[in-house]
Amino acid sequence: MKLSGKHIVIGITGGIAAYKSANLVRLFVKSGAEVQVIMTPHAKEFITPVTLSTLSGKPVISEFFTANTGEWHSHVDLGLWADAFIVAPATASTIAKMATGVADNMLVTSYLSTRAKVFVAPAMDMDMMMHPSTVRNIETLRSDGCTIIEPAEGELASHLIGKGRMEEPDAIFRRVATFLIENEKYNLNPEINGCDGKAAAQLKNKRVLITAGPTRERLDPVRFISNYSTGKMGVAIADEAARRGADVTLVLGPCNASPTESGVMVVNVESARDMLDVCERYFPSTDIAIMCAAVADYTVAHPSEVKIKRENNEIPSFEFVKNPDIAAILGKRKRDNQYMVGFALETDHENVNAIEKLNRKNLNMIVMNSLRDEGAGFGTDTNKVTIHTSDGRSKEFGLKDKKAVASDIWDSILENTNG
Ligand code: CTP
Repeated sequence: MKLSGKHIVIGITGGIAAYKSANLVRLFVKSGAEVQVIMTPHAKEFITPVTLSTLSGKPVISEFFTANTGEWHSHVDLGLWADAFIVAPATASTIAKMATGVADNMLVTSYLSTRAKVFVAPAMDMDMMMHPSTVRNIETLRSDGCTIIEPAEGELASHLIGKGRMEEPDAIFRRVATFLIENEKYNLNPEINGCDGKAAAQLKNKRVLITAGPTRERLDPVRFISNYSTGKMGVAIADEAARRGADVTLVLGPCNASPTESGVMVVNVESARDMLDVCERYFPSTDIAIMCAAVADYTVAHPSEVKIKRENNEIPSFEFVKNPDIAAILGKRKRDNQYMVGFALETDHENVNAIEKLNRKNLNMIVMNSLRDEGAGFGTDTNKVTIHTSDGRSKEFGLKDKKAVASDIWDSILENTNG
């Protein structure tokens, strides 16, 4: 991605992920952009200004004045110079200052002065990330027009496992670069904070939760039962949501499909139970949930702890128990300001069954596809759907590739949620 002539401010705060920002600076410089690094005083304890000024080719700014010359650094000039303003890593403390306008360092002061699009990549311990004050502050930044680049799940500096690892530099780079390129394509005024381009504006500030792919239910450590879902439809829906500007969390069962848009955060799961756990965590802060996964309806009551051997005399038999119905559970908890979409893959009485599921699971919309239609359903690159909504309307679509179907689904959701 070429970004010649673009001006990027990279704000670095005092977190362990600060070392990754060196790579972020390098990626922007390599793309032809000019980079100005601003560090908070604490950031210098994690990475040296010398490293960053060498990589960016510009002195790093950290203080309001240069100590020996008394030269004043204008935060206003810097804010106006920027085409994109990135804070990565963004600690809980800097996020709180940005949310409340506490301008006690060069980074937050420049943030308050900028008219550029702002990207914030939080990095912190999982409990700090989930603390109501952090959640509230991030929410405020979102409604102020910042794009939050959600942290990933994994091992954290505390050695705890959870959500809080700063997104990888190449994903942050792609996200910002795509914004700048799209912005130019749509010829919008890049100086307005929060202006994401025509398509990207449609779902701006919306949090979308999508389930996709199959689930696996274990029989023993090497065997499972599952289904033919390839995850392609759900991944296409996730990519389309990200292209339209949403913050997307994709809860993905085991499959080969993966999103191409950097705005999609993937949480990989195996069983229906895992999928439910993750969905329950994200659903309360979700605006639109799309249940596209082919969730196994049954799981094994007592999977074997050890591999079941062929030499055993008895043919094994398993007791099956019902899996939780994720869509129905979330449907029960759905608030009036949340919108839920389900899928129904049917083989007979298609529309009747789909509408029955729409009502039973308290959904707002259901997307029906029939295995009787050639080119629809599992594994294909195409699909043919009929969309039913809870107000009794239905719309049938022709056979299309899954990307186009994803676009039809989002158009229908937007039509229904915008009144
Ligand atoms: N679903 C879910 N959790 C389950 C089963 C289904 O979240 N345990 C969701 C699917 O993701 C889909 C919708 O519910 O959005 C309908 O799924 P489907 O398998 O067609 O419906 P079931 O309720 O399982 O009914 P049946 O298998 O009897 O047709």
